[in-house]
Amino acid sequence: MKCFLYAHFLCLCLLFSLEKSYGFEGRKIAENHHSHTIEVSSLLPSTSCKSPTKVLSSHDNKASLEVVHKYGPCSRLNQDKTIAAPTHAEILLQDQSRVKSIHSRLSNSKASGGNDVKVIDATTVPAKDGSVVGSGNYIVTVGLGTPQKQLSLIFDTGSDITWTQCQPCAKSCYKQKEQIFDPSQSTSYTNISCSSSICSSLTSATGNTPGCASSTCVYGIQYGDSSFSVGFFGTDKLTLTSTDAFNSIYFGCGQNNQGLFGGSAGLLGLGRDKLSVVSQTAQKYSKIFSYCLPSSSSSTGFLTFGGSASKNSKFTPLSTISAGPSFYGLDFSGISVGGTKLAISASVFSNAGAIIDSGTVISRLPPAAYSALRASFRKLMSKYPLTSALSILDTCYDFSNYSTISVPKIGFFFSSGIEVDIDATGILYANRISQVCLAFAGNSDATDVFIFGNVQQKTLEVFYDGSAGKVGFAPGGCS
Ligand SMILES: *[C@@H]1O[C@H](CO)[C@@H](O)[C@H](O)[C@H]1NC(C)=O
Ligand SMILES: *[C@@H]1O[C@H](CO)[C@@H](O)[C@H](O)[C@H]1NC(C)=O
Repeated sequence: MKCFLYAHFLCLCLLFSLEKSYGFEGRKIAENHHSHTIEVSSLLPSTSCKSPTKVLSSHDNKASLEVVHKYGPCSRLNQDKTIAAPTHAEILLQDQSRVKSIHSRLSNSKASGGNDVKVIDATTVPAKDGSVVGSGNYIVTVGLGTPQKQLSLIFDTGSDITWTQCQPCAKSCYKQKEQIFDPSQSTSYTNISCSSSICSSLTSATGNTPGCASSTCVYGIQYGDSSFSVGFFGTDKLTLTSTDAFNSIYFGCGQNNQGLFGGSAGLLGLGRDKLSVVSQTAQKYSKIFSYCLPSSSSSTGFLTFGGSASKNSKFTPLSTISAGPSFYGLDFSGISVGGTKLAISASVFSNAGAIIDSGTVISRLPPAAYSALRASFRKLMSKYPLTSALSILDTCYDFSNYSTISVPKIGFFFSSGIEVDIDATGILYANRISQVCLAFAGNSDATDVFIFGNVQQKTLEVFYDGSAGKVGFAPGGCS
């Protein structure tokens, strides 16, 4: 079934992401109960990488990897200037594609209990200049094969299968910074056969029925509307740290890859399906992992498998009701702005459902919740001049005439009763000092799922415990 490999097929499924990097450092010079005081000059990131302020500890049953922004000065991918970083407007547009595909995937699963595979023709794939758009905000570097090759992968809690571009790139590989993985040079690589039961589990992990090429299992996955990876399904040794390696991890060896991955070697799937790396390493780490996304592209965070949560973590249960098989669902119950909980009916949140996603940039709120948030935020920010919108962000300020600003605090409430304070760096999205925007957006449909995006997760330690079915949040996980 060569045609499967060589046609750009694709299904409608999901997600993935993008963002650039200019997170801001958000240097706070004062703080009271209801607002953050921020130096305006800290709204844009610095151009050099600050070494991590926290030493990553490593002990039994725990493996920590450094997390960097793909386009920031801390990224090893950033040296290649031929891979252009996207603009903020492009990032936000890509974010919208990811969100659309998540919404469509979840509404499909509500309606039918699963996604139909829809094979579409190559001509419906937007002709994007493949190297321009870079997605996936956050990357980690892992080792694959024997001898191991270092590969920088976008990590994604919203998808399951892990894949990397592979030689000989039978159909197409986009430009990546590191050498493309060559399975024929790895003594530990094995193709998976079409008749293997693990091959059929690709259907739930990717939303597509697997194909078969000369008896080798073929996977295919599409993200958003214009990026995909198709290739052989195989296993090889995955090395996370010098002490933690797994001899045979199932992954996709991509022979036809296109899209928004801008320079990274592929994707590390951290979803809830059984093919995700989290599930495949469950014997060792019990489906426990945590991460901290740095405040800006000039600092680093971490991704840890195993280990325990910070003592000051607040936990809320994972919900599975409307979350779909891959996503981490949460029960949201409210939002506070400037210390006051907004009057939003609980049904606004329960009708929509909610997920937390590492790959969506801007949190997407139910429309009624976003209007209440925006109205309250604008009122508390009324002394600052509003300026034009930035893509999906409609509440933007010109801070040119200020050296410090005071921004209301924002908190998320969950049905379990906890409140999680969004860090100062998770409230604003700075394009330039004269255009700094409230970093939230509304869904257009009240039944679309609420997405807790990665800007709002900055500096929080987010601790996933897939075995106990809960997620914990602790402030100050990284800087
Ligand atoms: C895996 O299977 C494909 C398709 O049959 C084949 O072209 C490729 O050489 C195989 N790779 C290895 C390393 O055996
Ligand atoms: C900044 O201050 C100058 C001088 O008072 C004024 O002309 C200008 O309109 C102000 N700009 C903004 C964005 O407030």
